Amino acid sequence: MANLARNFFIGLSNNDFLNKSARKFGTRFGAERFVAGTVFDAIVPVIRELNQKQISCTMDHLGEFVTDRNEAVHAKEKIIAMLRQIKEEHLDCHISIKLTQLGLDIEESFCIENVEQILDVAHACDIFVNIDMEKYIHYEKTLEILKSLRKSYTNVGTVIQTYLLDAEKDLSGLEDVRLRIVKGAYKEDSTVAYSSKEDIDKNFLMIAKKRLLGKAFTSIATHDHRIIQELKEFIEEHHISKDRFEFQMLYGFRVDMQHQLVKEGFRFCTYIPFGEDWFGYFMRRLAERPQNLNLLMKDVFYT
Ligand code: FDA
Repeated sequence: MANLARNFFIGLSNNDFLNKSARKFGTRFGAERFVAGTVFDAIVPVIRELNQKQISCTMDHLGEFVTDRNEAVHAKEKIIAMLRQIKEEHLDCHISIKLTQLGLDIEESFCIENVEQILDVAHACDIFVNIDMEKYIHYEKTLEILKSLRKSYTNVGTVIQTYLLDAEKDLSGLEDVRLRIVKGAYKEDSTVAYSSKEDIDKNFLMIAKKRLLGKAFTSIATHDHRIIQELKEFIEEHHISKDRFEFQMLYGFRVDMQHQLVKEGFRFCTYIPFGEDWFGYFMRRLAERPQNLNLLMKDVFYT
């Protein structure tokens, strides 16, 4: 049943017609619980409030699988404007980008040019840029582009998805790159990804521990309290300094736990998605946790 629901929502997340139609309306159907808004100006007070609570943020201007050049250029311009505003408003905030939003499916060199322009401005503003990891068909290309960008830029990193069979192997060569560790949000074939929660969690813990003992900064991105607890014990046991890693969670998820981790003295970063392209993101959140649908129903019927 859980698998059926997951496949249903993942199917909706990939539906081009629904994604395009949803743009015409603001966030709907309770998506505003997980998507902070559609324009950056409206999100600035949200970031400020989180910063005041010692929570830093990473901004995702939503959009992916772009096939139109103008749309990719428009996305790049919006991201650059956001970087400038983050700097001007002194926000404690970095950004997360997706290569398919910046033209990876159109032409690789065009996408790289767009990313380089973003990285130039980010570098001038002293802001870190994370390249989110998308579906497996883009995985190897994303790592290849990241490695090539790292020859000229130090302010860029990416994500390792622990559902991938090759995740541990691919850590090599990324020892000095800032990485975010996640379980993985897409539906992948069993030839490339683990499907059982047990295997994915085991791989997450192994990879996160390996990174925590390494030299580069690591973002541990999960809402899974069991994983967080085991890692907290590992961190204490190995006397790992709290400035070498952070916990990350998505906006609107386990807010009490976000605050609790800050209270315990851990660095914490909230991933804030915003923009008109909210539909695919929202459907993936429903796919990974159908209980999110229950939360939304409660909002609809009890508020
Ligand atoms: P999972 O969903 O497996 O939940 C484990 C357990 O935790 C549940 O069984 C439940 O007990 C508890 N739990 C989880 N959520 C809860 C809630 N809301 N309330 C109460 N209990 C809850 N993916 C990707 O492919 N590429 C990317 O670039 C990113 N980026 C990214 C950034 C950040 C900051 C996060 C947090 C996540 C991503 N992801 C991602 C998504 C990620 O791959 C994954 O799909 C989701 O985080 C869900 O997996 P979890 O690790 O949170 O645990």
